[in-house]
Amino acid sequence: MSTSVQSLPIVLSRLCKAYGSVKALDNVSLNIAAGEFLTLLGPSGSGKTTLLMALAGFVRPDYGSILFGDREMITTPPNKRGLGMVFQSYALFPFMTVAENIAYPLKIRGLSKSDQKMRTEHALDTVELDGYGDRRISQLSGGQRQRVALARAMVFEPQIILMDEPLSALDKKLREHMQIELKALHQKLDATVVYVTHDQREALTMSDRIAVVNHGRIEQVETPERLYRQPNSFFVADFIGESVSLPVEVSNKKAHLNGRVLKSDLPISEGHGGHRLVIRPELLEVILGEIPETANDFSGHVYDIIYQGDSILVIVQHESLGQINVRVPANRAGQKGLPSQGERIGLALHPEDTIIVPEHGS
Ligand SMILES: Nc1ncnc2c1ncn2[C@@H]1O[C@H](COP(=O)(O)OP(=O)(O)OP(=O)(O)O)[C@@H](O)[C@H]1O
Ligand SMILES: [Mg+2]
Repeated sequence: MSTSVQSLPIVLSRLCKAYGSVKALDNVSLNIAAGEFLTLLGPSGSGKTTLLMALAGFVRPDYGSILFGDREMITTPPNKRGLGMVFQSYALFPFMTVAENIAYPLKIRGLSKSDQKMRTEHALDTVELDGYGDRRISQLSGGQRQRVALARAMVFEPQIILMDEPLSALDKKLREHMQIELKALHQKLDATVVYVTHDQREALTMSDRIAVVNHGRIEQVETPERLYRQPNSFFVADFIGESVSLPVEVSNKKAHLNGRVLKSDLPISEGHGGHRLVIRPELLEVILGEIPETANDFSGHVYDIIYQGDSILVIVQHESLGQINVRVPANRAGQKGLPSQGERIGLALHPEDTIIVPEHGS
């Protein structure tokens, strides 16, 4: 598409929306950069759709401001916000062809027939459906329908595209394929994308940054890697990735477990309540000899070994801390020196992998 249109930044300030006693949006502030792919990630009922609908103009916040670029949108009706939208159910018109579906936003905007045709062909090309224009929607697979919905959302070159769980109806394989395609598509388009999912893996795969939503609030906004490695609350650490957690005592900026200081290079966030050590199974290292002085020692006895295809999950019984999971690659290197059930296993947690979070974020 033409490069004349530029993506817009979005600035949300102190958005609130209550449904009776439920705070669907509780003082949400968020800056989204022009051209960014930002994902709202959170459990069911956390307020993701409400936030997206507020952006789209279908939900009127009780309080707060929404800027697209430097324009305040709060009172602007949905059809005047210039957004591309894709929802979980594709909402395609079943009685129209693929091309007619895609051209629809152009038709209602009064573009000439020839412009409609040109842009529709280009959009079909972008989602790799060239040659499918004359097909009926009913003659398409789920993934193809999803791509038609995408083509329709971007055909009029919106500066902002909103997507609410657009891939959730697809099977796992197709969903993973579409995640990569969508990400590539975003790189081709000059649009700011706000994407909603409750699938943490999908969020990690696609996003420039992820905003973790919980009870109508944003817990943390970070790049996928930093969110995974440096969660700032137990909610975020627990929601993203696999982990076991153990309560620790924090004093003088040091965490203590069983009376011993934990070696950690990561900052310990402030919060309410106590703190927890979060151990991700793939971050523990199986050590054959002595545990190095620089690492934290979580050695124990092998309780069970579970083969899971791409990796092996080893459940370790620690004498005072209970069960801790370790994941090792299922190749020879990973299996090398793995003790059998009941035998002692040396486990090191290195300071750069030692995550300590408050029970409740600040
Ligand atoms: N129109 C409405 N009337 C009353 N309550 C609503 C309405 N819309 C949303 N809610 C409530 O607001 C909260 C947030 O809902 P929302 O749909 O934004 O969640 P979500 O994060 O999108 O969840 P899901 O992952 O299940 O789609 C929920 O408690 C929900 O029941
Ligand atoms: Mg929702």
